[in-house]
Amino acid sequence: MNKVTWRSPSNIALIKYWGKHGIQLPKNPSLSFTLSECHTTTELEWIPGSGKIQVFYDKEQKERFTARARDFVSSIVDIFPFLDDYDLNFNTINSFPHSAGIASSASAMSSVALCLCSMEEALTGEKLAQADFLQKASHVARLGSGSAARSLYGGFVSWGKSDKLPDSSDQYANPLPFKIHDSYKDMRDTVLIVDQGIKAVSSREGHHLMNRHPYASNRYQQANKNFNALLKALKKGDDAAFIKIVESEALGLHALMMSSTPPYILLRANTIKIINRIRAFRELSCTTLCYTLDAGPNVHLLYHDRDKAEVEEFITEELLLYCQDNYRIDNHIGEGPVKVESRE
Ligand code: DP6
Repeated sequence: MNKVTWRSPSNIALIKYWGKHGIQLPKNPSLSFTLSECHTTTELEWIPGSGKIQVFYDKEQKERFTARARDFVSSIVDIFPFLDDYDLNFNTINSFPHSAGIASSASAMSSVALCLCSMEEALTGEKLAQADFLQKASHVARLGSGSAARSLYGGFVSWGKSDKLPDSSDQYANPLPFKIHDSYKDMRDTVLIVDQGIKAVSSREGHHLMNRHPYASNRYQQANKNFNALLKALKKGDDAAFIKIVESEALGLHALMMSSTPPYILLRANTIKIINRIRAFRELSCTTLCYTLDAGPNVHLLYHDRDKAEVEEFITEELLLYCQDNYRIDNHIGEGPVKVESRE
């Protein structure tokens, strides 16, 4: 058997990773939850050879993805020395558009990392314990894309060293090690696609701009403070604190982009209109609907399952008109990756 397939989810950061150092190490701890409907399925086929790599997206050869995969694979040959002796074919497909600001690199890179860890097991015949396998895959995924480290687990996941979590690490992510309040177990995330276009600045460049950002050190302090406060809110079920922290992280991320050199504005007019509508709706309704943003114009609506009907009416009546082609993706908190068994 020289093939393996993994389906791996994307995640949405509530505390943002923005700024890195060394080899893909975060400047602050981040915290996300895993998405149920946004995922990448990657099949890896390996053939004895000399390290040639090809990437197909939905069966079409993609030069841009191939170049990124080549860079990635050459950066991890020390972890997987056998890679020089095989040609690799990756066949990949997303359940959502890539580069639309839905962290496609998180699901893509985590699925690739899982495939490489499975390839290692197939070649060596040595099987790691499941926890060790996932930790290794998280470490490898991080080297491909930082946020991908968090996609190896379901539920709420943290990545980056924090005083509050003794087992936390900059090298790999971990599921939150305590019981979160019941009301957060059924969180939903409806992604409103304001613009599907390719982003003006990649996350990679964005992180780089933090290296000479005038507000960088304050940001890392604030991220740690928000991280600690969010852990408390998740334990207690404190919605007021949750909303304050999560929305401040979202706008703070964009404020950093707007104040970097060169500055970037990734928000669109419709993003701001949606945010203002959410604030007004929250005051009038009995819900605790709030939002977060990735490094792009799309809005993630976060709400409890119990508010589903009221929020649904609000989305269809007041928000969908701001979305490109009425496009939205309804997620709830997702499980971790799944190995797809071959039907051959
Ligand atoms: C805004 O993980 O895409 O989504 O490590 O350079 O690949 P690289 O960056 P990436 O950055 C994600 C940034 C973010 C916040 C987050 O997911 O924590």
